[in-house]
Amino acid sequence: MRQELGPINALYPTPTVLVGATVNGKPNFITVAHIGIMTHTHISIGLGKIHYTNAGIHENRAFSVCLPSVDLVVETDYCGIMTGKKTDKSSLFDIFYGELRSAPMIAQCPVCMECRLDQVIDYPSHDVFIGEIVQTHAAAEVLADGKVDISRLRPLLFDMASKQYWSLGEAVANCWNVGKQLKHGLH
Ligand SMILES: Cc1cc2nc3c(=O)[nH]c(=O)nc-3n(C[C@H](O)[C@H](O)[C@H](O)COP(=O)(O)O)c2cc1C
Repeated sequence: MRQELGPINALYPTPTVLVGATVNGKPNFITVAHIGIMTHTHISIGLGKIHYTNAGIHENRAFSVCLPSVDLVVETDYCGIMTGKKTDKSSLFDIFYGELRSAPMIAQCPVCMECRLDQVIDYPSHDVFIGEIVQTHAAAEVLADGKVDISRLRPLLFDMASKQYWSLGEAVANCWNVGKQLKHGLH
């Protein structure tokens, strides 16, 4: 027996990220779970139009996507509770910049991507910003063979149904590999 839940978005968990932007000349960070992979080089973030951050991304055409580990759960949640309209969230973190001078990044986040705004999808309630990744900055501690190792990164996952942060489980099987056993017929 299956139940119809209505048009509920069930695409969780997603990573929880901190998006950095320069707003009114100052760095600001917003917590975002509506993040998507568009292509190997382009990512999307869906921001409600009421948020303080949006104007800064429109103005400077740049933003960062920083990946907190589970250790940064309190600061990450705080950035999703407080608005830059009233609170300076920039003093929470050590900030650094890369090529894009208006995409502030967080030193405490093991991986940060700086993105140039490529296009905006204008929904009535949300701006979906699509950014082209121009550089990815990673702490050596989370790398293995020069690649981000998610078991070292320990990403902070978000689930809407439980309204909780989750951590990553175990690897299950090798991609583009485990399915090969069905090539010779089902067992
Ligand atoms: C875990 C979590 C995930 C969130 N994800 C999003 C999101 O994907 N899009 C969005 O517009 N707001 C999201 N929010 C809400 C914003 O982070 C929050 O309203 C924030 O205070 C806005 O900051 P700003 O006004 O400084 O831009 C999320 C909040 C939390 C706690």
